[in-house]
Amino acid sequence: MAHEYIRVQNAGPLSGELTLEGAKNAVLVTMASLVLTRGKSRLTRVPASHDVYQMKTLLEELGAEVLFDEQKHELIVDTTFLNGWSVSPDLMKRMRASILVMGPLLARFGKAKIALPGGCLIGTRPVDLHLKAFARMGATITTSGDFLQADVEKIRPCRFVMDYPSVGATENILMAAAGISGVTEIVNAALEPEVLDLITVLRNMGAHIDFAFPATIVVQGSLDLKPVEHEIMCDRLEAGTLLIAVAATGGTLSLPDAPVDSLELVLEKLSEMGLSIEVGPQGRGVKLTSHRPMNPVSFKTMPYPGFPTDLQAPMTALLSLASGKGVIHETVFENRLLHVPELQKMGAQISLSGDRATITGVERLYGASVIATDIRAAAALVIAGLAAEGETRITGIHHLLRGYEGLDQKLRTLGACIEIVRD
Ligand code: EPZ
Repeated sequence: MAHEYIRVQNAGPLSGELTLEGAKNAVLVTMASLVLTRGKSRLTRVPASHDVYQMKTLLEELGAEVLFDEQKHELIVDTTFLNGWSVSPDLMKRMRASILVMGPLLARFGKAKIALPGGCLIGTRPVDLHLKAFARMGATITTSGDFLQADVEKIRPCRFVMDYPSVGATENILMAAAGISGVTEIVNAALEPEVLDLITVLRNMGAHIDFAFPATIVVQGSLDLKPVEHEIMCDRLEAGTLLIAVAATGGTLSLPDAPVDSLELVLEKLSEMGLSIEVGPQGRGVKLTSHRPMNPVSFKTMPYPGFPTDLQAPMTALLSLASGKGVIHETVFENRLLHVPELQKMGAQISLSGDRATITGVERLYGASVIATDIRAAAALVIAGLAAEGETRITGIHHLLRGYEGLDQKLRTLGACIEIVRD
């Protein structure tokens, strides 16, 4: 098999201005939500990342017609003749987010057959909250081997209190509820910006969605949801990754379309580290200027608006270069510190105790051969490699390609020495 890896070398401070792609964690669920409609929808600012191609294949397997113009970042999805309700096992294995078609399929057809989405390295990734809610809505869930089938004569609205504000479970229930008549309440719901972007899409389709206290989403669904035109929100996680990369190498970065309001705590932490953060007019856009030395900070990952777990790994890399000790507590996933041993290979001084990492900053990191274990761990290793002395080689690059469109290209625009090598 061809050997492919990312080669990164220190090229000194990075500087420049970049535009952001559409958010991976918004576009996938928005594509899934189109199963609720019959007709032609148009999505713009769609990132050309591997997961988007997987979701395109999934919708085509169900009978939708999907046209993707990568240059224009525009996706046209016609679901008029969509008639499938079973997702193939290999697709489920390739992309966990495939489970997000379950709610729309139950609303449209009253049945859905999927393979249990594989866990991954960051955790077992159970889907019990999704299934508990569908059962509460009247679905009969049967499993046989790896397969999971949900059948229901007529899915009904319900009030569902979540044990945990799961993003995917909130989105799945939200979509099922939007496609049926009656009022569904989701209590202790996830309110991530990507969930709010989905709510905008469902409202534009014709569902009535409001919020109530405490952390409750109230959905008045409709049996006649319309196709939509929607511009995917900018990717706050891409923005955070790029800001942290420039903080690590020194230099300045302008992101004119950065969604500042969904990055507040991240910007707060970077500011506490001594980096200068300027927010653009009307609170849109941000400019970061790096300074040395950087102060250490501590934080725990939490559901929004807490610190996002998806920027925990990149921040671990940055804190490895701060002047002092910081503690990171990963509370969202049970095994999301696998980038630590890889950073230690590069000279990072990090001690682990359960789901806490204590990081004692060092003067410099050293290039090494390291392995990426998930999308954000891959980004963290790229960041460490950009700042390290010597060459870093990162394998497991499919993780990076799943979650970012052209991150290497964007970093090269800023002056980075980074390339994808395929031997
Ligand atoms: C979404 O995953 C994102 N993925 C993740 O981004 C993100 O890290 C996560 O939300 C948290 O913000 C997409 O949107 C495609 P969860 P999801 O359900 O929905 C437990 C990235 O790097 N849980 O909020 O799978 C679960 O095990 C990816 O872009 C249950 O116990 O996250 C985890 O510990 C990684 N039972 C916690 O909740 C369930 O039924 C949070 O998971 C569901 C979840």
